[in-house]
Amino acid sequence: MTRHAPFDVSLALARDPYRFVSRQARGCDGDAFTARLMLRKTVFLTGPAAARHFYSDAFHRAEAAPLFLKLTLFGRGGVQGLDGPDHRARKALFLRLVGPDRVSELTDRVRRGLDRLSGRIAVQDAAERVLTRAVCDWAGVPLPDHELGRRTRMLSELFEHAVPVSPSVLGGITARRAADDWAERLIAAVRSGDLSPPPNTALREIALWRDPAGRRLPPRTAAVELLNVLRPTVAISAFVTFLVHAMHAHPDVAEQMRTAPDATRDRIPDIVQEVRRTAPFFPMLIARARRDTDWDGVPIPAGTPTVLDIWGTNRDARAWAAPGRFSPDRFHDWRGDAFTLIPQGGGDHATGHRCPGEWFTKGIMEEVARWLAARDWQVPPQDLTLDMTSLPGLPRDRMLIDLA
Ligand code: HEM
Repeated sequence: MTRHAPFDVSLALARDPYRFVSRQARGCDGDAFTARLMLRKTVFLTGPAAARHFYSDAFHRAEAAPLFLKLTLFGRGGVQGLDGPDHRARKALFLRLVGPDRVSELTDRVRRGLDRLSGRIAVQDAAERVLTRAVCDWAGVPLPDHELGRRTRMLSELFEHAVPVSPSVLGGITARRAADDWAERLIAAVRSGDLSPPPNTALREIALWRDPAGRRLPPRTAAVELLNVLRPTVAISAFVTFLVHAMHAHPDVAEQMRTAPDATRDRIPDIVQEVRRTAPFFPMLIARARRDTDWDGVPIPAGTPTVLDIWGTNRDARAWAAPGRFSPDRFHDWRGDAFTLIPQGGGDHATGHRCPGEWFTKGIMEEVARWLAARDWQVPPQDLTLDMTSLPGLPRDRMLIDLA
């Protein structure tokens, strides 16, 4: 294939959202190619060096996200679409709310939820419920028990139904409207004094936050930012499911977790990193060229939508030996790199768009791994195939396990 696919790739991408970009790139023997995506000329990039370029000032996020993502996953007006000083000010709020020093407040609550589980569970559904309860309590969001099921479904639909070429996207759009309305009512109640969440809670901080010019966020934007904490925390359920799936698929790894959780070398953080590297969760990112630029011989004129391949970069053979093999040991001596392991974005947390929720994500996954390592559980017969056309690519039966 040439570096310029003459056809529209939207359907091909929807059919194979994780592997499409790296396959095409291999076919044209490069790290960049152009194609039409939803009729617009788009540049596709893959690999760690291209990721570094994607996070440079040659690209920005204003008006980059496609409409269907704003109508489902992201909402409108949130930190994802900001650039420059506005972005940095808003991002600092997130880093204060969900930074590394806040992790144990959440994992303690998650642990209590896990301890209440018994019998046969679908890991995905159980984790969504446990995480909804934990994050709402942590964030100061009132959630009576009779509403837990409804709110769990609503928050989960925001990330499970964000596929564009699928009838289920309508469920995602409906859930987004309901979630925005609910979160906006909570913001209004805090601002009017009807609700007084404890200090430092996400609900209170977001409702009362002022930008450097002293302005509060418009109510709908504050609602979107509150959901930017609640929704992705519930979405960690998918990584929990992939963790259990990996433990089942690699019994040797599960055995190492069981036998050596307190040994000098704690394997669990490495296992969690390897699950994050290999799981089909967030396939790609999109930005726009801020100015004329190029990559690997492909010109990228100012304004061009540009996609960065997350899946392929996490499995790039230039950064990872035997990238297709599940091997937590690769992280034993890993010194870290902001552009090779990018399941939650790359670059710098404070100045770029890298996910501020990485500490929560790893903390919760490690907590669940320790809990599972200490319990007896079996995997009943079921369809364990990962559905690589879905976002996230969950196992078809949502990972059933029997807890003793
Ligand atoms: C950004 C993935 C968990 C809050 C992102 C990005 C990705 C991502 C790929 C985009 C990075 C970029 O645009 O360059 C994930 C995955 C998670 C997760 C797979 C696992 C469930 C969380 C959690 C939180 C969170 C737990 C908060 C509690 C955010 C926010 C942004 C973001 C606010 C926007 C940051 C910005 O635009 O500067 N995430 N994330 N995420 N994530 Fe996460």
